[in-house]
Amino acid sequence: MCGIIGVVGDEPALPAILDGLRRVEYRGYDSAGVAVLDGARIDVVRKAGKLDALEKELASHALDGHTGIGHTRWATHGGPTDQNAHPHTDCTGNIALIHNGIIENYLELRERLERDGHQFASETDTETLAHLIESHFSGDLTAAVRAALSEVEGAFSVGVIAAEQPGLIVAAKRTSPLIVGKSDGATFLASDPTALIAHTRDMVHVLDDQVVEIRKDGFTITTLAGEPAEGNPIHVDWDTQAAEKAGYDTFMLKEIYEQPDAVADALRGRSLPNDMLALDELRLAEEDIRSVDKVFVVACGSAFHAGLVAKYAIEHWTRLPVEIEIASEFRYRDPVLDRDTLVIAVSQSGETIDTLEAVKYAREQSAKVMAVVNVVGSSIAREADAVLYTHAGPEIAVASTKAFLAQVVGLKLLALYLAQVRGVMWPQDRRRIVEDLHKLPAMIAQVLKLRPQVRELAEHIANSPTVLFMGRHVGYPVALEGALKLKEISYLHAEGLAAGEMKHGPIALVEDGVPVVAVATQCHVYQKVLSNIQEVKARGAYVIAICSVGDGEEVARHADRVLEVPRIHELLVPALVAVPLQLLAYEVATIRGRDVDQPRNLAKSVTVE
Ligand code: G6P
Repeated sequence: MCGIIGVVGDEPALPAILDGLRRVEYRGYDSAGVAVLDGARIDVVRKAGKLDALEKELASHALDGHTGIGHTRWATHGGPTDQNAHPHTDCTGNIALIHNGIIENYLELRERLERDGHQFASETDTETLAHLIESHFSGDLTAAVRAALSEVEGAFSVGVIAAEQPGLIVAAKRTSPLIVGKSDGATFLASDPTALIAHTRDMVHVLDDQVVEIRKDGFTITTLAGEPAEGNPIHVDWDTQAAEKAGYDTFMLKEIYEQPDAVADALRGRSLPNDMLALDELRLAEEDIRSVDKVFVVACGSAFHAGLVAKYAIEHWTRLPVEIEIASEFRYRDPVLDRDTLVIAVSQSGETIDTLEAVKYAREQSAKVMAVVNVVGSSIAREADAVLYTHAGPEIAVASTKAFLAQVVGLKLLALYLAQVRGVMWPQDRRRIVEDLHKLPAMIAQVLKLRPQVRELAEHIANSPTVLFMGRHVGYPVALEGALKLKEISYLHAEGLAAGEMKHGPIALVEDGVPVVAVATQCHVYQKVLSNIQEVKARGAYVIAICSVGDGEEVARHADRVLEVPRIHELLVPALVAVPLQLLAYEVATIRGRDVDQPRNLAKSVTVE
């Protein structure tokens, strides 16, 4: 997500801010900005694009103050423009603020502040916070930040400066990371240890609902209520490269472990107080959604598999027929589209040309388009009639992991939203599913603990000529995704198959020792999957089964190895089962010595047809 940095010291702040921002560039961002406090004046310079663009802009400004804050923005609310870039200021320009996270109740707060006469200059959730602090400010910035944050719901790490209080940055945190550290002559805050490594290796992790006053000779931590408090001291001995990966060997592994947070972020702020669900940018009237009589899902790669998972949920919850189509095939086969067709485009990058062209084609045919994308303001998001952002944060590894899981969850929300607008689902049923969705982050964290068992399995299969993945119902798209991950990063041949289809051909591939990974979690076709496992087992397959907690003993009667995942609504199971499959691909690839983050022949975002 966004990178934040702040410094108060003996020297001008700007060089240290820019150095810190450079060090967090790897996180991905679409705009950047700084605010420097000089005497009793705050100068703010912000620019869409990369740091070079900001530095060019800064060449015509003299920012010599010793107190400053800086930000690299990964857009969440509002596209990547100069106006939406941080720092944001209050009406007077006397308070400036940087923020990483999502303010869930920003709309409600913004409406209230606008009624009170505050003038907003951006579309961001963050700017609300600047005005909220202004509304509480009467000469004591720390008190104003405390008062403002007590009204805020959501995730944040913030750094705030006020013209009236030179030499002070007030920082605070809930959920999003915040680190503080001190060197000779300066004190810093950052979102990430990487940003501070050049200055100190002894840092303090600020804890949730703590407020920090940062001055050049040190920092003081208190609780949101003003009680003295302590953070969590850490000593960082990673080199810069390891720090970028937060100590993980690769970005992919880091992103696999970020999945509980990515899913929590995908769900954040979607349920309104009246139990209704909300999209980000809705340029479609509810009557248009009610008149839809057919749905197409178009996507590529992992996003296609997320779309396939969604097909089951949309059909089940809305009773609308859903066709799913690989984006590169869609517009070349003359699909039947009209004004009552809804096309859902799924894309992490929002730039995949096949998906973008499918969206344009659908709109030309007068269909309505909803996009489920990760990158805010991307081409597909702009082209669509409505957007649901997955908020997984930047994904660096080519093979998609956390973005895939966030798509699975985002599409579930979209399916529920369609059912809500069309009035075809009882609100209490919708509420129950939403409650289950909120259980996923903790369950995913639990599933990640399977890694040592997965490593053993990986050692067993790493040299097989092929690996088959099979599942039924929503287990089928997960099998496809498991096979794709293994192909992508280990270069081992793999196929994802519908378990019931094995007997119609693919079972001919099964002979002694061929690994078959079976998705055998609880669902209405569980018994049928067990039969399919027996069929391959009888032909010599080495069966690795993923089942629900409590079924391990039964499944182990048919399979060679069993991995258990928590029990959840059967349509949500893919978000759990995908995780051990990602880990399996990862471990096989590392055993085979592959470049996991940048596999051969593949690109993160494919912008050619
Ligand atoms: C590329 C990537 C895949 C990704 C696909 C779709 O092929 O290597 O990992 O799933 O594009 O990307 P999108 O950004 O549209 O989700």
